[in-house]
Amino acid sequence: MIRKCLFPAAGYGTRFLPATKAMPKEMLPIVNKPLIQYGVEEAIEAGLRNIGFVSGRGKRAIEDHFDVSYELEHQIMGTSKEQLLHEIRDVISQCTFSYTRQTEMKGLGHAILTGESLIGREPFAVLLADDLCLDGEQGVLAQMVKLYNEHHCSIIALEEVPRDQTHRYGIVVGDEIEPGLIRVNQMVEKPDPQDAPSNTAIIGRYILTPDIFDILRATQPGIGGEIQITDAIAEQARQGRVLGYKFKGRRFDCGSIEGFVEATNFVYNTKFSRADAAG
Ligand code: UTP
Repeated sequence: MIRKCLFPAAGYGTRFLPATKAMPKEMLPIVNKPLIQYGVEEAIEAGLRNIGFVSGRGKRAIEDHFDVSYELEHQIMGTSKEQLLHEIRDVISQCTFSYTRQTEMKGLGHAILTGESLIGREPFAVLLADDLCLDGEQGVLAQMVKLYNEHHCSIIALEEVPRDQTHRYGIVVGDEIEPGLIRVNQMVEKPDPQDAPSNTAIIGRYILTPDIFDILRATQPGIGGEIQITDAIAEQARQGRVLGYKFKGRRFDCGSIEGFVEATNFVYNTKFSRADAAG
């Protein structure tokens, strides 16, 4: 059974400078809710209440967000504004939050390995909050937890991306075992379009079995001295222990300016403008 969700959130978010100079990228709001809260809500929907953050310098706002803010709450108590805090209070009351720090930015694989002390020896989920997934009947992690309970192996979320974008993603190849589900047998990190074996990309949702930590420890740093999670999962794939899942829903790459704006428009149009129209 999966109980824990790890949020690697130590990256610098340089694409959003200067906004991210003193504020974590994960706290950027899509309309009125920070990216990281969307992610934690998706984890809760999947039944994961044990939330672990791999954070870094300058990320304290994340801890403060998932805590009570006494002065503010006292100020607005009993006013119409109080309802604006209902969702986050709900989140806080349902979860436990633990934190560890990645002191050097040595890549996503290294960030996940840093989270080992929060996870221990059990299967767990990883959610990258800058990949915002919306609009499915069910959250993507909930879809993946269901699959894990049937197959008991690592599962990665997949999406077809335009050919000219393959250099931004881990790219996979595998055999379809049922519609939307493949057994992964090849993985390549950020290939140039002409070298990419497919256009099926890994996006920021993973369920990993805990042997991934041992594999990560033995994984050599690649380009830029970073330890790639793709290389470690590729080792599990060689043993036939990785499924790729073409999830239902829509993903916004909120790590990029275009994706962030698209997500903002989508959430505003689906949630807020309708609420306004209804008065
Ligand atoms: P990105 O490379 O997209 O994030 O990493 P970034 O480095 O923050 O953004 P840019 O490119 O400078 O704008 C994907 C995810 O992995 C985490 C990031 O926080 C992000 O959620 N990450 C990446 C770490 O936690 N540690 C790392 O060393 C690298």
